[in-house]
Amino acid sequence: MKITPVIQGVIARSAHPLGCQQAVRQHIATVRQHMDPVDPVSETPPLRVLVLGASSGFGLASRIALTFGEQRADTIGVSFERGPSDKGVGTAGWYNNIYFRQEAEQAGRVAKNIVGDAFSPAVREQVVQAIRDDLGGQVDLVVYSLATGVRPDPQTGEMWRSVIKTTDEAFSGPTLNLETDTLETMTVEAATDEEIIATEKVMGGEDWAEWIATLHDAGVLATGCRTVAYSYIGPAITYPLYHHGTLGRAKQHLHVTADALNHQLQALGGQAHVAVCKALVTKASAFIPAFSPYMLALFKVMKAQGTHEGCIEQMQRLFGERFFPAQGEVEVDAQRLIRMDDWELAAETQQQVVALMAQITPENFTALGDYTGYKTDFLQLNGFAHEGIDYDADVSMAELLRLTP
Ligand code: NAI
Ligand code: NA
Repeated sequence: MKITPVIQGVIARSAHPLGCQQAVRQHIATVRQHMDPVDPVSETPPLRVLVLGASSGFGLASRIALTFGEQRADTIGVSFERGPSDKGVGTAGWYNNIYFRQEAEQAGRVAKNIVGDAFSPAVREQVVQAIRDDLGGQVDLVVYSLATGVRPDPQTGEMWRSVIKTTDEAFSGPTLNLETDTLETMTVEAATDEEIIATEKVMGGEDWAEWIATLHDAGVLATGCRTVAYSYIGPAITYPLYHHGTLGRAKQHLHVTADALNHQLQALGGQAHVAVCKALVTKASAFIPAFSPYMLALFKVMKAQGTHEGCIEQMQRLFGERFFPAQGEVEVDAQRLIRMDDWELAAETQQQVVALMAQITPENFTALGDYTGYKTDFLQLNGFAHEGIDYDADVSMAELLRLTP
C-alpha cells in the first residue's frame, strides 16, 4: 500500500509512519547536539515525568527534550490517537508515540504510552497505576500540553465545545487553505458569553488543576514536583484573533490557574509555571482562522534573521536553559510567565513582520511569505515531505498492525 497526503482544508486525513519515525529521530538528534559530552556515569537520577498531550507539537517536543537532554527523563505520555484499521493507517501521533518509545527504550529510558481520553476517570486511574508500576510511584514533573476542541463536563457528561472567535467585533482577514494552496478571506465572528465560557472550560486551566489534584490525592507527586503548561500571547497585530479572542481568554484562565497551583504545590516544595511559546505550525494551530498570514510573515522574517525555531528548538531551549537554572530561580516576567516567545516578540522582528504583512496579498503570498516553509511543516507533521523517505514504496499494513503503543 502506498500512502499519500490527504488534506481537507487545514486537516490532514492521512499520515506516513516512516516520515513520523524520521521526524522523531531528527528531533532526538537536535536535542543530542546541544548536550555537553557528559561523563557516562551521571550522578543525577532520571527525572520522572508525566506528559499530557505527548504525541505531537509541544508535548512531544517536551518529551524528547527531557528524555534525550540532561534530565534523562523516564516518561509516561498520554494522548488521544488512532491506530491502523480498515478506516486507514491511523494518525501521525499514533506513530510518533511508538517510534519515540522505541528510541527511548534503546537509550535505556522508560517510555510508557497511554492512549485514551485524558479527561476520563479511567485514563486518570491508568496514569496513577502506571506511575506506580513504571516510574517507581512518583513524578517530578507534569507537562500539560493538551490541545482539543471538546471536553466533557464531569458533572453532566455533556460536552463543552471551544470556539475560536473574537470577543468583541467580528474580524475579516485572509486565511490559508492548505488543500487548495490559496489565501481566502474569512470572517471570524464574535463569540457569545456561553462560547467564551465553554472555550475557557476546554482550553483554560480547570482540567490541569484537576489532574494535579488527582495526582496529589493519589500521593504520586514527588517532593519538589513541578508542573508546566503552554500558552500563547503574540503581538498586538494578532490580539483581536488570539490574545483578546476566546483562546486568549482561556489562556488567561490558564495563567491564573498556574498561580493557584504554584501556591498549592508549595506545600510539597514544588512550583507551577506557564511557558509562553512561539507561534508554530501544529495540528492545533493550523486551525486558528486568519492567523496564517502572520505566521507566513513571521517565519520569513525569523528565518532571515536566523532566530527561527521549531517545536523541538523551543522545548530544547526551555528545558535545556530556562526551566532548570543552574542557580537561582526560573526567570519569569511580571506575570510570572516564562517567555519563550522572546525572539518572536523582539522589536526588530515585529517591525519587519508588520511591514511584510501589509504587503502580503492572495496573489503574492507564496513568494512574499514563507508559504513553502509553512506547508512543508504541515506536511512533515504528518510524516510527508521528509527527505530520504521513498514515498513510492509500499508500506505493509500487516507490519503497521503489529506495532503497539
Ligand atoms: P497538538 O495538537 O500538536 O498536540 C495536542 C496533544 O493533545 C496531542 O498529543 C493530542 O493527542 C492530545 N490530546 C488532545 N485531546 C486529547 C484528549 N482528549 N485526551 C488525551 N490527549 C489529547 O497541539 P500543540 O500546538 O502542541 O498544543 C499544545 C499546547 O501548546 C496548547 O496549550 C497550545 O495552546 C499551546 N501553544 C501552541 C502554540 C502553537 O503555535 N502551536 C503556541 C503556543 C502555545
Ligand atoms: Na502537544
